[in-house]
Parts: sequence; structure tokens; C-alpha cells
Amino acid sequence: MKIAVLAGDGIGPEIVGQALKVLRRLAEDGLKLEFEEAPFGGAGFDAHGDPLPASTLKLAKEADAVLCGAVGGPKYDALPRAQRPEQGILRIRKELGLFANLRPAVLYPELVQASTLKPEVVSGLDLMIIRELTGDIYFGEPRGRRDNARGEKEGYDTMLYSEPEIRRIAEVGFQTAMKRGKKLCSVDKENVLETSRFWREIVIDVAKKYPEVALSHMYVDNAAMQLVRNPKQFDVIVTGNIFGDILSDEASMLTGSIGMLPSASLNSGGGGLYEPIHGSAPDIAGKNIANPLATILSTAMMLRYTFNKDEWAYRIEAAVKNVLAAGYRTPDIDEAGAKKVGTVEMGDAVVAAL
Ligand code: IPM
Ligand code: MG
Repeated sequence: MKIAVLAGDGIGPEIVGQALKVLRRLAEDGLKLEFEEAPFGGAGFDAHGDPLPASTLKLAKEADAVLCGAVGGPKYDALPRAQRPEQGILRIRKELGLFANLRPAVLYPELVQASTLKPEVVSGLDLMIIRELTGDIYFGEPRGRRDNARGEKEGYDTMLYSEPEIRRIAEVGFQTAMKRGKKLCSVDKENVLETSRFWREIVIDVAKKYPEVALSHMYVDNAAMQLVRNPKQFDVIVTGNIFGDILSDEASMLTGSIGMLPSASLNSGGGGLYEPIHGSAPDIAGKNIANPLATILSTAMMLRYTFNKDEWAYRIEAAVKNVLAAGYRTPDIDEAGAKKVGTVEMGDAVVAAL
């Protein structure tokens, strides 16, 4: 099983380093893994003048799975859009056909105090956000700048979903719901957007194949509110690219820290890219304080979804639960009486727990 390792920028290399330690520990127990690293994001621009260098893309396409850290940083903010690190991640998603983004928001009992919400609102939270990842206003054409009829300059983007794009992500939503609590909430803005009216029609049509799943629909503004009012009403949420981007950041904070949430981005062939949902956090890069758990948990998702190694995935998740139960905390989830650790020590603790 060959893994392309794209550590990226900022805290990326530090957190990916810990995830690799964990995978190497499993390799000692017989998991056959091969790793190859390549520059990506700002590091790709520095090395080859391109956030997704051709050699990196080639490696990612040949590998069975891709492990990513994070991309971006102030150093690259002034670059033209095509060279910005974010374009690297958007292009690799498109190139690999990674249309289904799974972002679980699970609150570990040990982290109830780290959430900004009341314990009774969040304890036991376990929801899955399925975000469509290769369509919508992120990729819709036309887009750009122009002069309007009044001679003013304007910027514009196009929100757009085709029927096959909606069908395949709806399928992932229903199939995921079937394996969980059989409740699916489709989030849209049907009261305003034509794209959303179409989205809802297609989701309702796909639902005919899944009579056991209780399907509901919610406007995105209401969903944003319900996520902080009563997040446990949700089991699986399926939504488009831009709404999913926003709601998954919101959901991450329910769990105490954005440093805890892994993600899987899957294509139709079982291939996938695995990354924490947080960014490159340039302000804390190189300080050994970033939380590596989201990246470590992303490797568990990799073992489960691309390699069908559920027991190995479970081992990683159990090890993470154990280190949290033992009181290890990076600063983002710190609390009174905890064992304060840095990035490397947290990785070591997970390896020891394994
Ligand atoms: C995410 C990120 C990306 C996105 C950025 C870095 C382009 O916010 O993965 O959620 O908007 O999809
Ligand atoms: Mg985001």
C-alpha cells in the first residue's frame, strides 16, 4: 500500500511527521506500507513554482492514498490566484476526482470541557458531514472580473451543480446514513437559489432507493443555527461544497478544537486523500505546539476507507482515546490538571498507546 505524503506548509510537516510515526508503528506489526514524500502548496511553489507540481500530482495519482498536512501561509498571500497554495489542494481534489468529503465531528467524552458549548448540548455528539468537494461555486464557470453595464467593475462566480454530481454525492449521503443512524439531513438554500432547488429535487429522487432512511431538508442558515442550538439532532448531513466548508468548520468547534477533526476525500474508485480539516496555522508553526491528533485520526480514516483495514483503523482511534483519557493535552485542548504536551510528545504518547 503506497501512500503519497504531501506535508505542505506551516504546521503541516510537524503534524504529518507524527502521523507517519503512528503508521510506521503499525508497519512494525505487519501492515505493509510504503511512503513517498513530495512538495505541495507553498512548498510546491518554492520548489517548482507551482502549488501542485507535475511530479507531485503524478505521485498522488500513482499512490493508493494521499496523506496531506495543510497548505498556505502569509508568505504566499500576495501571489496571483493560480499560484496560491490553496489552488494546490483545489486542483488535486479535481484531478483525483475526490468528490466526496467525509468530515466526522465526534466529541470525545474527555474533551467535553474543551467545547465552548454546554456539556449537555454536546456530550455524546457524533455527526458526519458529507461535503461535495469538486463542484459548486468553487469550480463553476464563468468566474472573474468584468465591467458591468453601468461601467463599474465587478467580481463574480457561478454556483452550479449538474444532476450526476448531485446524484453521486446524495448516494454517498444515503449509504453513509444506512451504516449509521439512518437519518440524513440535506442542507441547501432552496428558498433563494436555483441550484439548491435542483439539488433538493434530485436528493428527493435518490431517496426513493433508500426508504429506510429518514430524509429531512434544512436551509443552510437554519443549519448553522441548529448546529450550535442542538447539534445532536443530526446524524448525517449532506451538502454542497461551499455550505459544507462553512458548516464543517462550525461543527469542528463543537468537539472542542479544530485540531481534532480528520477528513477523508474519496473518489469513485476507493482512492482517497486524507487530511485534517484545519489549516496550516503559520502563527504556531515550528513551535511544537500543534495538535497532531486530527492528522493521526485521518490515517485511521485512510486505513478504513481506502485500505479496508477496519481493525487497524480502530487501533489508532482507540490509542487516541487512551491518550486523551490519560490526560495528555496539546495547548488547544488544554485544561486544568492535564498533562501538557507538545506535538512530538503527543505523537509519542499515541505510539506508546498502540
Ligand atoms: C477546507 C479548506 C479549503 C476549502 C481551502 C484551504 C481551499 O478551507 O478544506 O475546508 O475551502 O475547501
Ligand atoms: Mg474550510
